[in-house]
Amino acid sequence: MRVCVVGSGAREHALACALAPTADVVVTPGNPGIALEPGVEVTAMAPEQVAADLVVVGPEAPLVGGLADRLRAAGTPVLGPGADGARLEGSKAFMKRLVADAGVPTARWASVERIDEARAFLRRLPGPYVVKTDGLASGKGVLVTDGLAEAEADAAAKLAGRSFGDAGRRVVLEEGLVGEELSLLVLCDGERVAALPAAQDHKRLLDGDTGPNTGGMGAFSPVPSATPEVVEEVMARIVVPTVAELARRHVDYRGVLYAGLMLTSDGPKLIEYNVRFGDPEAEVVLPRCRGDLAALLLAVADGRLEGPPGVSADASVAVVCAARGYPHAPETGARVEGLAEAAAVDGVRVLHAGTRLDADGTVRVAGGRVVVVQAVGASLEAACARADEAVGAIHFDGMQVRHDIARRVPARAAAEGPGGPLVREARR
Ligand code: AMP
Ligand code: GLY
Repeated sequence: MRVCVVGSGAREHALACALAPTADVVVTPGNPGIALEPGVEVTAMAPEQVAADLVVVGPEAPLVGGLADRLRAAGTPVLGPGADGARLEGSKAFMKRLVADAGVPTARWASVERIDEARAFLRRLPGPYVVKTDGLASGKGVLVTDGLAEAEADAAAKLAGRSFGDAGRRVVLEEGLVGEELSLLVLCDGERVAALPAAQDHKRLLDGDTGPNTGGMGAFSPVPSATPEVVEEVMARIVVPTVAELARRHVDYRGVLYAGLMLTSDGPKLIEYNVRFGDPEAEVVLPRCRGDLAALLLAVADGRLEGPPGVSADASVAVVCAARGYPHAPETGARVEGLAEAAAVDGVRVLHAGTRLDADGTVRVAGGRVVVVQAVGASLEAACARADEAVGAIHFDGMQVRHDIARRVPARAAAEGPGGPLVREARR
């Protein structure tokens, strides 16, 4: 089977590595690290031009832009929803209305276009306050704050088009949820759903969950608080009703439905949906999946999902090495050193994200998230120790890295139970 992966980040690098054992993989446009993987080819051809038995779309923007619709119209199976389903991520206001119709537990919210409406809604909330751009902003268009004045000022800047251009001209305001975050990536073939192992992302730039929100600075899996009961509750109260509501609206959703969740004292609540694999969640979830991933993803694309993949008992951790100035204004150009030494650490893979290659073989910083160190081990501690060793070998001017990825995991012992991930009929 020939699988085309669309994208150029560490998520697509992880996908290429996970698919390569059972498929010929071609990645467009890929990156210098992907190009070095055995059995993987990179190409500058558009996805529509690549002859493939399956296309796996990494990022959200092409899905929102209708890439999956165009490929399906040409007869190619695709892992990724059409533009209709991709609106779940492309418009937060659309997503909030849809899940409200489906009765899904989520934060109280309002969608506003005027600052006086924004102020009136925010002043009715107890805080913390959340201000989001309605449109796509790579996970960076979200402010979470305890300060009402800060929330109002942020809403004003977004609505005026100052901070995010047109993506911010409509703003979604939310009640801030408090609890532990969880990412559950669910395969959905239009009718049936199957959860992949749960992961936790670290969204803030700095240690101790401080600093601005980013696209994600690291992740780990398994997550001790994601017990089988919690996963079952998320599937039953959040994922299945959402897929049923999509089907009611004639949306044939085939791809990854990524539920971003908060485990609150009131039970799990939905924060957001993404319509693709998470980044860096894919980097920790895919290495734990067993079996033929290409065949599994093709079954999803073809509407014949039979069940979840096998899951390894290993733990996995991903640590992002980011450029100076990330997330607001990453500085590019610095020379990246130590990648080979890092990759030589047992159980470690160095995935490229924002890199470029000079003619003389020098790797340079070319984006905000530069490389991702992914490590597996018999426990989270063992995986973290390997990741630390590998991160210690990597160097570039201005490198930003968190040192507490997977380190604040609550001591609750329960791991994923023997039931493992679930398969559910989504049809009503
Ligand atoms: P989103 O782009 O909607 O995923 O938001 C990005 C991040 O902001 C989330 O992963 C959370 O860390 C945080 N966040 C978003 N909405 C809320 C909320 N209602 N309560 C608390 N934190 C939130
Ligand atoms: N890690 C968050 C995302 O992929 O959106």
